[in-house]
Parts: sequence; structure tokens; C-alpha cells
Amino acid sequence: MAALTGNLTVNGDRLWDSLMEMAKIGPGIAGGCNRQTLTDEDAEGRALFKSWCDAAGMTMGVDTMGNMFMTREGTDPDALPIYVGSHLDTQPTGGKYDGVLGVLGALEAVRTMNDLGIKTKHPIVVVNWTNEEGARFAPAMLASGVFAGMHTQDYAYARTDLDGKSFGDELARIGWKGDEEVGARKMHAYYELHIEQGPILEAEGKDIGVVTHCQGLWWLEFTLTGKEAHTGSTPMPLRVNAGLAMSRILEMVQEVAMKNQPNAVGGVGQMRFSPNSRNVLPGKVVFTVDIRTPDQAKLDAMRAEIETRGAEIAAELGVGCSVEAVGHFDPVTFAPDLVSNVRNAAERLGYSHMNIISGAGHDACWAARVAPATMVMCPCVDGLSHNEAEEISPEWAKAGTDVLLHAVLESAVIVE
Ligand code: GLV
Ligand code: MN
Ligand code: MN
Repeated sequence: MAALTGNLTVNGDRLWDSLMEMAKIGPGIAGGCNRQTLTDEDAEGRALFKSWCDAAGMTMGVDTMGNMFMTREGTDPDALPIYVGSHLDTQPTGGKYDGVLGVLGALEAVRTMNDLGIKTKHPIVVVNWTNEEGARFAPAMLASGVFAGMHTQDYAYARTDLDGKSFGDELARIGWKGDEEVGARKMHAYYELHIEQGPILEAEGKDIGVVTHCQGLWWLEFTLTGKEAHTGSTPMPLRVNAGLAMSRILEMVQEVAMKNQPNAVGGVGQMRFSPNSRNVLPGKVVFTVDIRTPDQAKLDAMRAEIETRGAEIAAELGVGCSVEAVGHFDPVTFAPDLVSNVRNAAERLGYSHMNIISGAGHDACWAARVAPATMVMCPCVDGLSHNEAEEISPEWAKAGTDVLLHAVLESAVIVE
């Protein structure tokens, strides 16, 4: 009978080969990936993942949000499954590992169990959640959010991309709208392996991040209404300049984040000027403020201050201002028992480790609402992520996946 000893490890070469194969689908323009959710490339990536799961003897269920659940049977028909996964979708200029490592690491764990003839009491379900990134359809972690009952499916289906295409239509178009009721599945536990997406583990020289918490977030979409007018002939005092209001609000967001140091961030990643013509003052500017901190009180206070001061800045310039919250989750505390499983696994395997708080959002944050959940992190070079140059070493990927395998087996209970 296989035992949880330091000798039980995954096949790092096979894992790396799979990561590189997946990265060929939806290649970026600078060595990374553009496999945004519900695109043809997403469909192609899903099909490749399914073919690998088929070869590993797993059976597939797909829910009405397109979440893919690949099951490796357990020995006890009454035991709830251990869910393990992440996401295969990427940012428009994304890396090869954000999300993908968590899905293919989970698959590698199953492949290793197959190689060694390991049987578990609980089934193991490898998950690919739809639209984790929120790049094409806000908010992030949309489908795991519906699964956990945080959003309705109607809300999710109605989300639109910048071209006005809806999530629901695009899900049907790529052929991955399943028939399982979303959220009907019950989990015994949920684990997610992910690259850190920040600089801490590399700087500290640690192989493994034992993830205890995830910081909370608000995405605040500002719509500023100015007056379209000629940029050359309109005198300065007559301008109703929504672009100027936006720039002052950006400065204010920076100031609010800095005032709340340490452990708070704020910035703007997306903006749209309308009509976006060089010599027209914008009539409308839409942009999204992203603020995050692990401290609930700070998060709420930052949101309130940004909304109040944003409205004041716009009013001073005679610009209309409305704010819609398009993404939110409160700070998350992961399940202590599962966190211990991860720490014990790192110890057993001889990997250096430290506790860490996730700076990015993850499907695990929503899974934690419906099941005991936690995460495993590995370092990434220079902490760089959401960038095509995102990089990890094969050794880091293997270490993270070894720890994932052990933690999952601890929960799934080896029977043979
Ligand atoms: C998801 O990638 C996030 O924005 O943290
Ligand atoms: Mn991710
Ligand atoms: Mn991401």
C-alpha cells in the first residue's frame, strides 16, 4: 500500500510537458498566452484537457456555467469528493501558469495516483472553473461565484464583454454549456495550487507558500459624464472634462492606498474614453478601480473614501459621476485543518515553506463559502504575473504539485 512518505512524488517532466502543450493554445504575442474565457481558444484548451482526463480514466460532468468536473472514483460510494483545480482561462496578455498550473497540477496528481495504483476512499474531482480572470466578463471568479451562490446564473449570463457579447451566448457558442445544475455538487474539501503572483516566496527563498488567507477586493466601475467638445477651440473655462476628472480620481486612489499601508493596494487597469478621438474632449469615461486588503475594516473604509472623494472631484469639475460595484469579495480565512495538511506535506517532502496571504483572487475564495478550502502556492520569477513574461521553474512547479498531491491524499484517505 502506498504511504504518505517523502518518496511519494509526482512526475515533474510530465507536468512540465503538459504545461508547455497547453501554452501552445491561444499563444500570446510575447511568449505567454491569450486564452481568454469563452473564446475559440478556450474551447480548444478545454478539449485538450478533457482528452488528457479521458486518458487518465476520469469521467466528465459539465454544469450550466461551463465548469468542468473530471472525476476519479473513490472506493466509498457515500464519500463526498475532494475537489482540486483552478482555471485554464488567461488574461489577454497572460502567462502560461496563472490558473493552468492548478488544473494541470491536479491532473498530474491523479496521473501519479494511477501510476502507483493508489486508491482513495473519497473520489477526486479535478475542476476547471469558467472565467476566473474576469478580463473579458467582470467580475473575476464568476462561475465559481455562481457555484457558491454568490451570484445568480442570470446575472452571470447577462455579463457582457467590450464588444457587447454576453457570457451566456458565448458559453453556448463555444459548445461548453453543460446540463448539470450549477452548485448542486457537494465537496468534502477543496484544494487549489497556484503561482504566488507576487514576490514574497522568491525573495524569502521558500519553495512553498502555505496559504492561510486571501485579501478582499472591490472593483468599482466609475462612469464619468463630461461634454464632447473640440480640444483646440474650446476655451479652458468652458470645458467639462471627464478625462481630467478621471486623472484626479486616479491620483486620489493612489493616495488612499498609500495612506492605508501596509497591506493595502489600489489602482486602475481598464479605462475607456468615448469617443476616444485625439481632438475631442471625452463625453464619457469609464474606468475600474481595483482595491484590495486582507483587513475587512480597511477594505470598507477605502471603498467609502474613494466613492465619496470621487464624487466630490467630479462635482468640482461639473462632471457627472456614477459608481457601480462590478466585483467584490470579503477577505477569506482558509480552513485550518486543510492548511495544516499543506504545511505537513511540505515538511514531509522536505520543502521550505512559509505562511502567506494571497494577494490575488482565486476560485478557492468562493469554494471556501461552501466547503473547507485552502491553497498551495509556489514562487514565480520577480513576482511577475498578468504579464506574458510570467515565469516559474520546473522545480517550483513540481514542488507545489508534490505538496498538492500529499495534501489531497491526506483528505482523500488512501485505502490501497
Ligand atoms: C484574478 O486574477 C484577480 O484579479 O486576482
Ligand atoms: Mn489565477
Ligand atoms: Mn489571473
